[in-house]
Amino acid sequence: MNREFKNSRKSEKEYIDDLKKQIEKLKKERNAIIIAHNYQRKEVQDIADIMGDSLALSRAVMKTEAKVIVFCGVHFMAESAAILNPKKKVLLPVKESGCPMADMATVEKIKKMRNQCPDAAVVSYVNSSADVKAESDISCTSGNAIDVVKSLKEDRIIFVPDRNLGHYVKINVPEKEIILWPGFCPAHIRLMEEEVINVKKQHPNAEFLAHPECRPGVVKLADAVCSTEGMFKHVRSSLSKEFIIGTEEGLVYRLKKENPGKKFFLPSEHLICADMKLTTLGWVAHSLKFMEHCVTVPEQVRIKALKSLERMLEASN
Ligand code: 13P
Ligand code: SF4
Repeated sequence: MNREFKNSRKSEKEYIDDLKKQIEKLKKERNAIIIAHNYQRKEVQDIADIMGDSLALSRAVMKTEAKVIVFCGVHFMAESAAILNPKKKVLLPVKESGCPMADMATVEKIKKMRNQCPDAAVVSYVNSSADVKAESDISCTSGNAIDVVKSLKEDRIIFVPDRNLGHYVKINVPEKEIILWPGFCPAHIRLMEEEVINVKKQHPNAEFLAHPECRPGVVKLADAVCSTEGMFKHVRSSLSKEFIIGTEEGLVYRLKKENPGKKFFLPSEHLICADMKLTTLGWVAHSLKFMEHCVTVPEQVRIKALKSLERMLEASN
């Protein structure tokens, strides 16, 4: 989009408005819905029909009447939409937008761990591939991981792939043995305890909200630990006027928009997910025009992965 914009003679506003009109027209022609994760660029958030965290988006795709789902997020999210909606066309505007954490889990290693701990249940964070979900007993999101683990009859859990979310579950479900996987989110891991302490000193009345993908030391400093959508709920119901946001910077745009009387601070300039930022309005328009890139899951994998997602949705009602 940037190269296209530079080559055009339009102002940035004209260029963006034109793209928004094109997207609106194509959306109607294709009978499409645009779904966006809370970390997307602000101009992409502005054209989304539905926004939310991984759990909210999984639920939203199941209810839509649209024939085409344009998923502005990363690959595992579009894959989950395809698992839950095999009859719909799921488009991921940028093929390369993946989640490095999801790539840290492999089926081979899960099988090896299952052999070592045959009595353990495998819980996979939705930030994982369809193959990994298919190999798991149940999935979870950052918003329901504690409920999902508590709902299981097994006392030992292999938690895949985020070690920080796994650690957070371990603290909150001490009655179970949680076997951690060495995965992490390259954006959240960069937030350090000292940075949070410094920003807390600058804004002593602010509440600190942390995503459970942050380091355990950072999570310990939090007034509330939430999924991205959980942060919206918390801010809406809190009497506080100031908040330090311990997650990807994209969230702050919507937080400010929906809570004009409140202030938001980021504790670090490194809280950016490069993959989430790959999706631009230009790519969304391109995706609708050429119906690219269609995300599909082989049927035998989809059926098994679906079980894991359905069990999660049942456990988090
Ligand atoms: P949420 O489900 O909380 O939106 O998190 C998804 C994610 O990728 C966080 O990095
Ligand atoms: Fe993956 Fe982290 Fe980006 Fe979320 S923020 S999609 S966990 S890399």
